Amino acid sequence: MTTTTAISSHQRPLTGLVTTLRTFLTSLFLLLLLLYALYSSQLFFFGPSNCSLSSIKADTHLLNTNSSSITSLNKQQQQQQQNDDLQLNHIVFCIAASSNLWDTRKEYLKLWWRNNETCGVVWLDQPVNTTQNEKEFLPEIHISGNTSDFKYTNKQGVRSALRISRVVSETLRLGLKDVKWFVMGDDDTVFVVDNLVRVLSKYDHRQLYYIGSSSESHIQNIFFSYSMAFGGGGFAISYPLAKELEKMQDACIRRYPNLYGSDDRMQACMAELGVPLTREAGFHQYDVYGNLLGLLGAHPVTPLVSLHHLDVVHPIFPRMDRVQALRHLFDSTMNDTASTMQQSICYDRQHQWSVSVSFGYVVQIIRGVMTPRELEKPTRTFLNWYPRADYTAYAFNTRPVTRHPCQKPFLFYMKSSHYNEGKNQTIGVYSRDRHDTQPFCRWRMDSPDTIDTVVVMKRPESQRWKKVWCSATQF
Ligand SMILES: *[C@@H]1O[C@H](CO)[C@@H](O)[C@H](O)[C@H]1NC(C)=O
Ligand SMILES: *[C@@H]1O[C@H](CO)[C@@H](O)[C@H](O)[C@H]1NC(C)=O
Ligand SMILES: *[C@@H]1O[C@H](CO)[C@@H](O)[C@H](O)[C@H]1NC(C)=O
Ligand SMILES: *[C@@H]1O[C@H](CO)[C@@H](O)[C@H](O)[C@H]1NC(C)=O
Ligand SMILES: *[C@@H]1O[C@H](CO)[C@@H](O)[C@H](O)[C@H]1NC(C)=O
Ligand SMILES: *[C@@H]1O[C@H](CO)[C@@H](O)[C@H](O)[C@H]1NC(C)=O
Ligand SMILES: *[C@@H]1O[C@H](CO)[C@@H](O)[C@H](O)[C@H]1NC(C)=O
Repeated sequence: MTTTTAISSHQRPLTGLVTTLRTFLTSLFLLLLLLYALYSSQLFFFGPSNCSLSSIKADTHLLNTNSSSITSLNKQQQQQQQNDDLQLNHIVFCIAASSNLWDTRKEYLKLWWRNNETCGVVWLDQPVNTTQNEKEFLPEIHISGNTSDFKYTNKQGVRSALRISRVVSETLRLGLKDVKWFVMGDDDTVFVVDNLVRVLSKYDHRQLYYIGSSSESHIQNIFFSYSMAFGGGGFAISYPLAKELEKMQDACIRRYPNLYGSDDRMQACMAELGVPLTREAGFHQYDVYGNLLGLLGAHPVTPLVSLHHLDVVHPIFPRMDRVQALRHLFDSTMNDTASTMQQSICYDRQHQWSVSVSFGYVVQIIRGVMTPRELEKPTRTFLNWYPRADYTAYAFNTRPVTRHPCQKPFLFYMKSSHYNEGKNQTIGVYSRDRHDTQPFCRWRMDSPDTIDTVVVMKRPESQRWKKVWCSATQF
């Protein structure tokens, strides 16, 4: 028996295990009941096994008991109530697209665009043909203004960066009504629009805000800036800031002919306006190659707002095409978008397994007890932007997929899901990915190999990251 880590030293006598394993085999079914109860109650109830809640990451400032901090929190809450009336139609999307990639990229847009609910414009360089039927599922198409008299001197980049950096200003000039936020995205950015509303509701749209996220690649952030919202992940600009930007942007762009892209031009103007980046971890540039499993299986507890570079990474569900895979995700999380990709960690005490659930996506079962501290780090299933497996290349912590062959996770991808209105509960069926083979393991402990299906039951929870969930860890 290998006991390379503290984790494996928790193994129990074999005889008891075999009997339980048999019981297991008859059903081939691990029933995970994840009951997310309101506020106080924080137990997870598990079916045949005894799994106890270990960790729900909490919004730490809520734990602060300093009374003056609580006062300021109340002020924040009041502020929030003022913005709780933010509706999807207060957000105007400014999508930067190009005519030569339009035929493939428009499929991503159709995934998340909601006719008569979302507002916005696609900015193209040249007219494209769209059928009448397609117009129902796509934003209005506009052609960008002529930028041929702007200088562009960057050797690596392309001129279209100039055109694209102006989409917010050009959209503002269309004079749409009731706009609180402008959100810029690429044609290969997929937004979870409900979560975008949730995130932007935290901020006062009457103030100057520039909200987005950095790259996953440390080097990219150094080349560009840690103060820059990466354009592919999308970013939001409050209405008054967009107005200020529109007044000065053309002059500003002329001062930076040597910049590479549209988002660094935008950031240069933000710096001139003196507006810093507000980081929101739910916007995802995804400057990575390969499999997003590691990142999406351990998403931070914050609403998933966007996904990008979907042409570059593998489809998020194996054996589906990219668009199919995303539609599968959207269809199954429709009734609980707030929880999309939110991670829950628990343990099967009887079998000494660690279980990580990424809602709507994947359940991972690992032999041995692995601490939440480990499990909340993304596994390196992906390569960095300068494709190399170099763990120092990321702007966040990661861990290897396995430190020991026996600890390779057993993967169960979300297969089907339905919402039971009576019980106010989503029932998700997650199936074992048998194409993902396991290395030989010598550990004399139960293997999750016999499980085919995991069922996750969960009540919708639209505010989960605002709540404190006490932890009841007992290893
Ligand atoms: C689950 O664990 C708790 C506490 O460790 C124990 O009281 C309870 O009897 C266990 N339930 C089952 C079904 O084993
Ligand atoms: C509470 O916070 C205030 C302001 O942040 C600080 O002045 C005060 O010392 C803190 N009190 C305690 C007990 O930490
Ligand atoms: C959107 O609105 C138009 C006109 O108001 C209507 O004809 C169309 O059926 C609506 N489409 C959807 C998908 O609701
Ligand atoms: C649009 O369709 C017309 C007629 O079918 C064709 O002549 C034209 O080349 C098409 N334009 C583009 C950009 O595909
Ligand atoms: C853009 O403007 C330049 C001159 O400023 C002109 O030569 C060119 O034809 C224009 N391009 C388009 C597509 O209108
Ligand atoms: C769940 O989704 C269905 C299908 O879109 C919808 O009709 C229903 O209203 C949703 N229920 C809730 C509680 O969101
Ligand atoms: C379902 O439960 C959640 C809390 O778990 C609650 O916020 C929501 O309003 C409930 N929805 C319905 C349709 O009862």
